Amino acid sequence: MPLTPGRAFSLVVLGLLANPASPSAAEPPRAPAVITVSTARSALRLLAGDDGRLYQLDYGRIRERPPAPRTPSREDEFHPQYGHGYVLEPALQAVHADGNTSTDLEYVSHRTARVDDDVSLTTVSLRDRHYPFGVTLHLKAYAAEDVLEQWIEVVHEEDGDVLLARYASSAPVLRAESYYLTQLQGNYMREAELVEERLTPGVKVLDSKLGVRAHQMRNPSFILALDRAAEEEAGEVYAGTLAWAGSFQFAFDLDWNNRLRAVCGANPLGAQYRLGRGEVFRAPSMIWTYSARGKGEASRNLHRWARRYGVREGGRPRPVLLNNWEATHTDFDEDRIVALFDGARELGVDLFLLDDGWFGDKHPRDDDRTGLGDWQVNPRKLPRGLGHLAAEAAKRGLGFGIWIEPEMVNPRSELYEKHPDWVIAQPHRELLFGRNQLVLDLTRPAVKEHVLGVIDDVLGANPDVAYAKWDANRYVTQPGSFHLPPEEQQNLLVDYQWALYDTMEHMAERYPKVMAMACAGGSGRVDYGTLRYFHSFWPSDNTDPLQRVFIQWGFGHVFPAAATSAHVTDMGRKPLKFAIDVALSGAFGIDRDLSRWTPEERATVRAAVTLYHERLRDVVHQGDLYRLQSPYERPQAALGYVSPDRSRAVVFVYRLGEAAFPPVKPRGLDPARRYRVREVNLPPGRQSRLGLHEQVVDGATLMEEGFPAPLRRSLESAVVEIVAEP
Ligand code: DGJ
Repeated sequence: MPLTPGRAFSLVVLGLLANPASPSAAEPPRAPAVITVSTARSALRLLAGDDGRLYQLDYGRIRERPPAPRTPSREDEFHPQYGHGYVLEPALQAVHADGNTSTDLEYVSHRTARVDDDVSLTTVSLRDRHYPFGVTLHLKAYAAEDVLEQWIEVVHEEDGDVLLARYASSAPVLRAESYYLTQLQGNYMREAELVEERLTPGVKVLDSKLGVRAHQMRNPSFILALDRAAEEEAGEVYAGTLAWAGSFQFAFDLDWNNRLRAVCGANPLGAQYRLGRGEVFRAPSMIWTYSARGKGEASRNLHRWARRYGVREGGRPRPVLLNNWEATHTDFDEDRIVALFDGARELGVDLFLLDDGWFGDKHPRDDDRTGLGDWQVNPRKLPRGLGHLAAEAAKRGLGFGIWIEPEMVNPRSELYEKHPDWVIAQPHRELLFGRNQLVLDLTRPAVKEHVLGVIDDVLGANPDVAYAKWDANRYVTQPGSFHLPPEEQQNLLVDYQWALYDTMEHMAERYPKVMAMACAGGSGRVDYGTLRYFHSFWPSDNTDPLQRVFIQWGFGHVFPAAATSAHVTDMGRKPLKFAIDVALSGAFGIDRDLSRWTPEERATVRAAVTLYHERLRDVVHQGDLYRLQSPYERPQAALGYVSPDRSRAVVFVYRLGEAAFPPVKPRGLDPARRYRVREVNLPPGRQSRLGLHEQVVDGATLMEEGFPAPLRRSLESAVVEIVAEP
């Protein structure tokens, strides 16, 4: 797995506690030590001050001659703790076993280990000056990608439990005249809307309180631009994203000195964690990148990192999926499914993905009120089982995939009849439902075993299943466990999340050939904690291509195209070419009854899929993204992908309304090379209106002058391929 949880480091932390701290007055003075954690183009510098505290000197571009460490102030403390003199937004707040609400960490030691040519891991050990309470900061630097990953571990040897009231993963301090924060907010059907604001003094909080699949109303990611609103190719920009599928909290605290501290981590609301003696608390990873050249570069850094480390098998080609959800919902039988994928191969489809509705016997899953939790095949709908469907798909040259939602249950299910106490709920409260379902309590060992068994029953017992779509259709509204003791009720949301990741890891490790899509009623769960077990995510149930231009644009700020599923459907009744061209800019698929397309439409889809397989997929999925014209600025969007060796590029242009548009100027090409420009994915018989069609132009001219979009009307689109001459 690309991101290994840091549990192995617990020994380091315990080791540091083996030598209990003595009061600071007894410590000999210490020489200041500068700790530098650097990537190719950024550096974080910390200072172990002679007062024993750990301070941040700077985080940003690498300076040739870094300023000499100045005497830091408390506001520069690196991972500030509540209660002993620090009065701004803290990163850590602990209530010690004796009730003391303050923590006072001092630097103990640090070391840097080289993981490989690209990656190094610096650990900094801190411990309380009085209590046997230690924190290890983990700073993992990915040099080539300019990415810094940070998480913390906490452990103690106090005589009783410690309550962790706040436990941010990362809380760097930034310095500028002004700060512009962009969030990815929204809700079901309108995900990842970009909203930018200038921060004012005080604390601005972006958060989620949803507990499980917690990103429905906001993705745990942001862009922070210094001194001016974020631009694509200029200005200092930080991008941050929390690898955590649970509730999160980002608190941006702008102080009287115009310092900004970004306190980022899991949300402690309802989840103040009771940590037993000797137990290790691990906070999720916060992923940062810094760019001195705008948010375009910040996105490209994250995408490169994601393909290499953050997303499961980032380099593996994503198959063209045919999904049946839009076409059938839960209303199907064997014949209808076979009829749906009959002829799919002829269009170039690689794999048929059977969505919700295939299971449940006593309580058949015929709508969303029943059957969830009963993972046996519905014998009336599919009398010959999944194996038969997989065999029928294989006969037609297609792979076969399956939908699951293993962590949830309908009350009308055999599972709930047997185990009503397996759900997340609270005593003395009326049960609240979301989509008629409840969340299973994964902190209960029997439930976790059960969910692992569901995965084995579906994937292990059906070795022909080559793909899984893992859905999650409600969040937590009553965080309570019938398994955890009263004093650990507040541990539920954190422990649930790690148990959930364990089940996902089980799927990824036990079934390495099965590719997987993370879905959560649209994009309720899109984070780099989840994506290390998944090849792609489902950005939204809104597949109207006009809306998808915006939704994919938003997600593209943080997540790569290879992971962004984009399917052609009927939603919004937009022109077919427009719908195809929007889907071609992500991980392409189809969700529709193919038989309802005319022969001409089928030919159009077939040509697009061939083009995608042969010429576009590689560049779009493995190339660098350049956002050329924002749909937020004018009713036209343009984006380009450039292959790592700059020999190929593809530009997508979407006209969304009426206005005058400036030329589309590709970026990222080699200025000295000559490129052939060609409009592709033209409907049969249509001449290109692109002035440069089939012309050879040097990269410098192409990037400087660009080309007028060959589009006349709203909802027209163009795909332009740019290929270096041999
Ligand atoms: C919500 C998902 O977003 C849809 O794609 C579909 O899988 C349904 N759930 C099935 O219940």
